[in-house]
Amino acid sequence: MTGRTFVIAIDGPAASGKSTLARRLAQHFGFAHLDTGALYRATAFLVLEQGGDPADPVTAARAAGLVHLRLLLDPRLRGEAVSAAASIVAAIPCVRRALLDLQRNFAAHPPQPAEGAILDGRDIGSVVCPEAEVKLFVTASAEERARRRVEELRRQGAAAILEDVLQDLKERDARDIERRAAPLIAAPDAAVIDTTMLDADAVFERVSNLIARALAVQR
Ligand code: C5P
Repeated sequence: MTGRTFVIAIDGPAASGKSTLARRLAQHFGFAHLDTGALYRATAFLVLEQGGDPADPVTAARAAGLVHLRLLLDPRLRGEAVSAAASIVAAIPCVRRALLDLQRNFAAHPPQPAEGAILDGRDIGSVVCPEAEVKLFVTASAEERARRRVEELRRQGAAAILEDVLQDLKERDARDIERRAAPLIAAPDAAVIDTTMLDADAVFERVSNLIARALAVQR
């Protein structure tokens, strides 16, 4: 392996399965994983906790400055109110700037003993780690993503209505795609994986083969 950390960038829309895939890949390859959506969720959570307005740049940027890695595991980041507010704070350029160093630092110096880093989000291949050794864009139709999210919520014992979940996903997609600051986009050199017709094992197999080939070239 060369001195540089081996970095895998995984981008894609909400509920495309990218974080689950990233976790599984991290375990398989012994890499460290950063779910960058959790950074925006943590920012939103800190704003809401203080009764602030997620759309206010000063409040949101101050909250982004307080985000630390331990907070990312807090289950309260997964609630619906935080999910909606996360895509609002994520559209504010100074929030994105405030979170950039943390992400780049994680990619360059993943916690030991990991030899590489996997970051998943919306702008990893395009903005955060444009030099990543492997770039993936994981997507699926909005209907399929909504169906999977409903299944997951019901497994957790929460009541979920497909139409509501689909509507919410479409709104978050629109905010992520249409914002001016680092919009959701597949980097030109990313491998696009459409998982609409694939199960999690098939996606994992396809992607882990691709990474193994890239690692063999690097070593
Ligand atoms: O992936 P997740 O749903 O947890 O992300 C929460 C929100 O954070 C997304 O709706 C998106 O607006 C934002 N996000 C982002 N850039 C990233 C990761 C997430 O803008 N790299």
